[in-house]
Amino acid sequence: MGDPAEQAGDGLYGGPHSGAHEGRVTLDATLAMAAALGQGGIDEGPLREGRELTRGAQAALEERRAAGDLAWMDLPYQNVGEVLEFAEECRGRFETLLVLGIGGSALGTIALGTALLHPYHNVLSAAARQGRPRLFVLDNVDPDQTAALFDVVDWQTTLVNVVSKSGGTAETAAAYLLARAAMEERLGGGVRGRDAARSRLVFTTDPRHGVLRDIAQEEGISAFEVPPGVGGRFSVLSPVGLLPAAVCGMDVAALLGGARAMDDCIQTEPGAGNPAGLFALVQYLEYVHFGRRISVMMPYSAGLRDVADWYRQLWAESLGKAVDKAGRPAGIGPTPVKALGATDQHSQIQLYAEGPDDKVVTFLRVASFANHLAMPALHEGRSEFSYLIGSDLAGLLNAEQEATAWALARRGRPSLRIDVPRVDAWSLGQLLFMLEYATALAGELFNVNAFDQPGVELGKQATYALMGRPGYEAVAQDIRGREGAER
Ligand code: PA5
Repeated sequence: MGDPAEQAGDGLYGGPHSGAHEGRVTLDATLAMAAALGQGGIDEGPLREGRELTRGAQAALEERRAAGDLAWMDLPYQNVGEVLEFAEECRGRFETLLVLGIGGSALGTIALGTALLHPYHNVLSAAARQGRPRLFVLDNVDPDQTAALFDVVDWQTTLVNVVSKSGGTAETAAAYLLARAAMEERLGGGVRGRDAARSRLVFTTDPRHGVLRDIAQEEGISAFEVPPGVGGRFSVLSPVGLLPAAVCGMDVAALLGGARAMDDCIQTEPGAGNPAGLFALVQYLEYVHFGRRISVMMPYSAGLRDVADWYRQLWAESLGKAVDKAGRPAGIGPTPVKALGATDQHSQIQLYAEGPDDKVVTFLRVASFANHLAMPALHEGRSEFSYLIGSDLAGLLNAEQEATAWALARRGRPSLRIDVPRVDAWSLGQLLFMLEYATALAGELFNVNAFDQPGVELGKQATYALMGRPGYEAVAQDIRGREGAER
């Protein structure tokens, strides 16, 4: 077998590195097609059928958008004046920004921070951070981790952003109570501590409902809105992600500009010019026609590592559903998995290449890294090293991505490649919006409601019940009954 990419032809479904030079995020699906993979690849018949279905899905989403039903699609056009103003007021005032949230209220911020801040932002001096705070996101209730985090923040110079759309999620509520108590104590306790804490708190929550909104109103605490109709996992471009981004000095305008640029092309025919449509289409066909039910996201970029984590939640919570839109049993949903190139070549690729043929791997490949690290001419006589001389780290990393895609294709395993021009706010805005839209499209293709999460809600209710929250007695009784039956 020769080069699978060459056999598939160039440009039909993207082509190598297409668009990246124009600053656009693009998708190349060449190595998922039958021309490259043979029998295990998508051929013309299913592709035609899939395109037709995708066009229908696009039209359905357009209709919902026009009816005002997809508020997250309006986020790239929002006015962020207040967010930027608040961020400017914080500049030089806080040493640390501590975000308390979970799921969709945390993963977007983590992804933004990993991609857009200096990789060692938190250990830079205040001057090197240009007066912007360090960023910590607490998205778990592990007591040791929480206590350790509280050891390294000085509440005097810490801004706490409590992020919860509902306001009542147990993990976030617990973290808020602990952080606020610690802060009040450090700031003098009593009324003095309470007053001083208020100016170090900012909530991001529903505009009208929930306990956080009530407390903000009662105590005059600054609060930003999770716009109505925007679910947690679709909220990264709302104040949920934008407030921490702006406070830490990320380029919010470029993020939204990138998202708008992606919005311009998602109405077109799924293909190189519409990566969201092509992504959803290929993922759907892999699931339905080939039984490849695992969707691996594998960035070849440490900066994009947590985009894979964010995508994992987006894809899993949106598409994993018990029933279809008509309420019929469905039990459907691809399983998203995250991996990191090149690191996980030495941990996961053996399985992806030779284990069950149940995966489609999406690589994220960066065209231009900020740093150029040329290989020094050392040990020139040694062939074990000399092939590296003259290259640089980006060249090696991208060669590894190409090599992995080729190795998978040689074994008939499909992959997609998302080309990202640079790890910057403009590219990230495109990428995040592309994946959100692709998820919504996939929801239409799989015929499930991509915007609810009854399974998560059930778990939340069980937590409330087990912790004795009033109103959840029946759930507690059900849990006790089942536990009794098991014994
Ligand atoms: O995407 C979702 O809807 C969830 O992951 C929520 O973001 C998560 O459960 C946290 O909910 P809340 O923001 O209400 O605290």
